[in-house]
Amino acid sequence: MSKLLYVVAHPLDKERSYSLAMGNSFINTYKEHSPEDEIVELNLYNEYIPEIDADVLEGWGHLRSGGTFEELTSQQQSKLSRIEELTEQFIAADKYVFVSPMWNFTIPARFKAYLDTVLIARKTFTYTENGPVGLMTGKKAVHLQSRGNIYSAGPMKEAEHADTLLKTCLDLMGIELETIVAEGHALQPDDADKIKQQAIEKAVLSAEQLAKEMVLNK
Ligand SMILES: Cc1cc2nc3c(=O)[nH]c(=O)nc-3n(C[C@H](O)[C@H](O)[C@H](O)COP(=O)(O)O)c2cc1C
Repeated sequence: MSKLLYVVAHPLDKERSYSLAMGNSFINTYKEHSPEDEIVELNLYNEYIPEIDADVLEGWGHLRSGGTFEELTSQQQSKLSRIEELTEQFIAADKYVFVSPMWNFTIPARFKAYLDTVLIARKTFTYTENGPVGLMTGKKAVHLQSRGNIYSAGPMKEAEHADTLLKTCLDLMGIELETIVAEGHALQPDDADKIKQQAIEKAVLSAEQLAKEMVLNK
């Protein structure tokens, strides 16, 4: 049995979001094909996701220099505990599905804040004399994203900082990423339904594939 972590980085619902419509079809298909797997949903807009701020940096610094957790302020303790909880939840999963819209060329700020809670040195990656090495190798992720313009090719390609950012983060941890996008519906509104449906079909095929894969925690 594998554990799939479904990370929703969108504040709306599947009726109002192409990305969530893709995510919903993905998860339903996955469940049909791998009913025994555990699916844990983490909705970043319904849950507390701490940002890296002075409390967090000072708290980490205090622990790194040999201080104890009990010596931290209650604010520092609660932020660090929550970050650790999110990191451990991430480590415990075997597969990941991320749903996000493109906002201003990148992922929503809350999604970035979440990535900051799982990119933790010596937990999900480590530094070696040859550079950083992922500690999460063998795990698989899928990113489902909608964006109004076209970035997979053409003049806007270089302006895509959403999926490329996620891929860089996952690469660092050693996690393989597949991406499915619904794109261009703002440019071609007459084709919007077709663009959405095609993306949903791709998401369904990807879910069937991921459900077949045995990815087990090391
Ligand atoms: C605040 C905001 C910023 C956006 N920025 C971009 C952008 O930089 N590039 C783009 O192609 N589309 C942009 N869009 C359009 C969305 O990416 C597009 O509507 C997409 O379908 C959103 O995903 P959703 O359908 O899951 O909500 C933006 C939309 C909003 C609301």
